[in-house]
Amino acid sequence: MLRAMTERTPPDPNMADPNKAPGSEGNWFGFQPVDPDAKSGLVRAVFDSVAGRYDLMNDLMSGGIHRLWKDTLMEMVAPKADMTLLDVAGGTGDIAFRFLQRGGGRAIVCDITESMVRVGRDRSFDRGILSGVNWTVGDAEKLPFASRSVDAYTIAFGLRNVTRIDAALSEARRVLKPGGKFFCLEFSHVVLPVLREIYDVYSFQLLPKLGRVVAGDEDSYRYLVESIRRFPQQEALAKRIEAAGFGAVRVRNLTGGIAAIHSGWRI
Ligand SMILES: C[S@@+](CC[C@H](N)C(=O)[O-])C[C@H]1O[C@@H](n2cnc3c(N)ncnc32)[C@H](O)[C@@H]1O
Repeated sequence: MLRAMTERTPPDPNMADPNKAPGSEGNWFGFQPVDPDAKSGLVRAVFDSVAGRYDLMNDLMSGGIHRLWKDTLMEMVAPKADMTLLDVAGGTGDIAFRFLQRGGGRAIVCDITESMVRVGRDRSFDRGILSGVNWTVGDAEKLPFASRSVDAYTIAFGLRNVTRIDAALSEARRVLKPGGKFFCLEFSHVVLPVLREIYDVYSFQLLPKLGRVVAGDEDSYRYLVESIRRFPQQEALAKRIEAAGFGAVRVRNLTGGIAAIHSGWRI
């Protein structure tokens, strides 16, 4: 799939660095320049292609570590019975399930790719979760929810894929009640030099091949690697979250910065 993606070279570092040109992320699909209007269709095609193997691939490519990162996120969310969580880019439901298992009241999963939502809904039936979670197809940049309607907002491995990060952050603020909690768990930038080299070899050379063998789709996993490199650095993203109207913005690096959780309160 997505044959057009295969001829890629790393872009001009000044043009491409999202830290130098905030808001430029819509012009890039990994290392490939694209029309911003085309980006979400390309992203949907990636997740349509991998939906059936998405959970297996997550475990294989992270050695299960994504589970620990999601557990850490949920410790920070601190679910309560009277809380409504909106999990944007919620995919196959990992965050929503953790929220409910830890005593959260109601979870809403919203994702732009219908096939991911379908896999998530099937997983919830398989787990006997018949109530407490709603599944919605929708765009993080135009959430189909009322303003000030949720207590917590999570987006896990999703913000990197949206066309306009600032529009998604502004929507997060709109739907949160004042004082509501915002959390973004995302692949980030390694802060330990020794880990960086190993991680580069693993991600650029091994991961796309793993994608080919397990999910039958090398291009989608190359997009994953490239989109991580194009995602803003920890501090740059924190500033954009603040600019969107959040207070007490914090960054917590996970596994040496391979991933990070940004959090804040809706002012
Ligand atoms: C890497 S998956 C993460 C799924 C889940 N949150 C998890 O942690 O396992 C990224 C998800 O983001 C969704 N996505 C991408 N762009 C989106 C957008 N603009 N609005 C909502 N969801 C989006 C994709 O469809 C996909 O399901």
